[in-house]
Order: sequence, then C-alpha cells, then structure tokens
Amino acid sequence: MARVEKLKGKVAAVTGAGSGLGRAMALAFAGEGMDLALADVDEQGLKETQSAVEARGVKASWMKVDVSREAEVQKFCDLLQAVHVVCNNAGVSVAGAAWENSVDDWRWILGVNLWGVIHGVRAFAPRLIAQDEGHIVNTASVAGLISPPGSAAYNVTKHAVVTFSESLYHDLRERNSRVGVSVLCPAYVPTGIADSERNRPAGYVPGELSKETLAKKAMLKKAVASGRLSADDVARAVVAAVKAERFYILTHPKIKGAIRARMEDVLEERAPRDPLGPL
Ligand SMILES: NC(=O)c1ccc[n+]([C@@H]2O[C@H](COP(=O)([O-])OP(=O)(O)OC[C@H]3O[C@@H](n4cnc5c(N)ncnc54)[C@H](O)[C@@H]3O)[C@@H](O)[C@H]2O)c1
Repeated sequence: MARVEKLKGKVAAVTGAGSGLGRAMALAFAGEGMDLALADVDEQGLKETQSAVEARGVKASWMKVDVSREAEVQKFCDLLQAVHVVCNNAGVSVAGAAWENSVDDWRWILGVNLWGVIHGVRAFAPRLIAQDEGHIVNTASVAGLISPPGSAAYNVTKHAVVTFSESLYHDLRERNSRVGVSVLCPAYVPTGIADSERNRPAGYVPGELSKETLAKKAMLKKAVASGRLSADDVARAVVAAVKAERFYILTHPKIKGAIRARMEDVLEERAPRDPLGPL
C-alpha cells in the first residue's frame, strides 16, 4: 500500500526544483495531479519550472531557499499549508582527489548535499509523521553506493545521504509510521550538475586541482552530457517508487555490477576495485 493514499490533489515539495532532476520531478508529480512547492537558490529557474508545472493544470508556488541553511528550509516547510511528498534533491558537484579540495569546497558540498537533506528531514519528517501520511525522497547518487575516483567529497556526501535515508527508514518502521522513504541513486543524467560552479557561494575558494583531476572533470562532464536516461525518465521512476513504496531507486541497472563488486570486496576484505574500471 502506498504511503500517500492518492497523489492527486496533494502537495509535493521539491528542492533543487530550478533545473534538472528537481524540475523533472516537479513536472512528473504535476502529471499526477499534485500541486507543487518549489525551492532553489536559482529564482529564474524556479520561475521557469513554475510556468511549466502550471501549464499542466496544477498550482505551483516557489521560494528562494538555500538548503544548507536550516532556518530557510524550516521556513519553506512552515509556509506550506499542506505537504505529502518531499524531495530533498538540491545538490552540487565538486571534483578533486581526496587531498585536493579546499575546506571551502568541503563546506559547500557538505552544506548542500548532506546538510540540505538533514535540514529537509528535520523540518518535514515530524509533520508527515504527525499526519501519518507522506513520503520522503532523498536524492543521493550511485556515488552513494560506490566510490569513483576523482570525486571524494561528492562520494562522501552521497554515501552519507544513503545511510541517513536507510536510518530514517528504520526509525519510521520501528514506530509503525506510515511515512515512506526512498533514496534515489542515479548514474549519469544530462542536467546542469557538471556546471555546479555557477552556484558556488561568494568567497568560497576552490581547491587547486591537478591536471589528472581536470582531465577527469572534463570526462565526467562528457559522461553526464551523454547520459542515456533523461531527467524525465528518472522522474518517472521516482513517481513509480513513491506509488510502489520502493526504497532504493536504482535507475541505471548496468551499474549494479560495480555495486556488487564493491560489496564483494568488503565481504572478502579485498582492496577496492576501481568501480569505473574493468571489474
Ligand atoms: N545529473 C546526474 O548525473 C546526477 C546523478 C546522480 C545524482 N544526481 C543528483 O541529483 C540532484 C539534482 O541535480 P541535477 O543533476 O538535477 O543538477 P542541476 O544542477 O541541474 O540541478 C541542481 C539544482 O540544485 C540547485 N541548488 C544548488 N545549490 C543549492 C542550494 N544551496 N540550495 C538550494 N538549491 C540549490 C541548483 O540551483 C539547481 O537548480 C543532485 O543532488 C545531484 O547530486 C545527479
């Protein structure tokens, strides 16, 4: 049984809704007849998403929210009259070998990708639990299940979102709550994620990147741009998971070999194989 009885007429709140997966999720939930509450730091992007959502015949409100700031996320939650689905999705990416990122890089990416999700859960979960109906979708990544080289900081945030979501799931089940949880773990999807520098806060100094990292960054940008699944495909998978009450949303089945290899290496106590290399 789905944790949200009927999506139509209910409200979905989506962070990072000004672009990419967040916008696609907003449109997909609008396609189910849900009204939308949109949050992002990008006002122009929010306005575009609002128009696209309203063109589907539902209501959409937006608010400029920096998800790394607790008070702004709490205000976003408090201003909503109703909410049933919450997508903690806003995110940024930073390239770098494990020792290369600056403290500002770490502060930025942990702030958006991890604290953003923590603030979202702290604000919205008590409300959904009190109404005993709702579903939280946290956006992680396959980088939350494997550790590709060249993006240590990103991997750290995404692994943290996976374990945080699993912990949230257990805590809800232990209390017999009807609130559902999913964690979204896509591989490459063409969005703005490889251009995250546009969102770097003023004064946050980037780390100095080696030529190996710069080459990897260029490769990653290409891989994202040529991702076979679209943001709309991923958003459809999210809606289906909310309806089916599925926890793990693995949109790219080919990557499962790398996830299995990592788990085997852990259990066999072997050194980890490169998940992007030949397994
Ligand atoms: N695209 C991929 O290949 C891919 C793969 C796995 C996971 N993801 C994850 O998907 C999520 C969405 O990213 P996307 O791919 O759609 O990229 P995107 O850049 O198109 O969208 C990210 C959105 O987050 C917003 N944002 C950035 N910092 C913010 C902040 N502090 N507060 C509020 N909003 C903020 C941006 O303005 C942007 O609209 C991210 O968490 C990302 O890590 C993406």
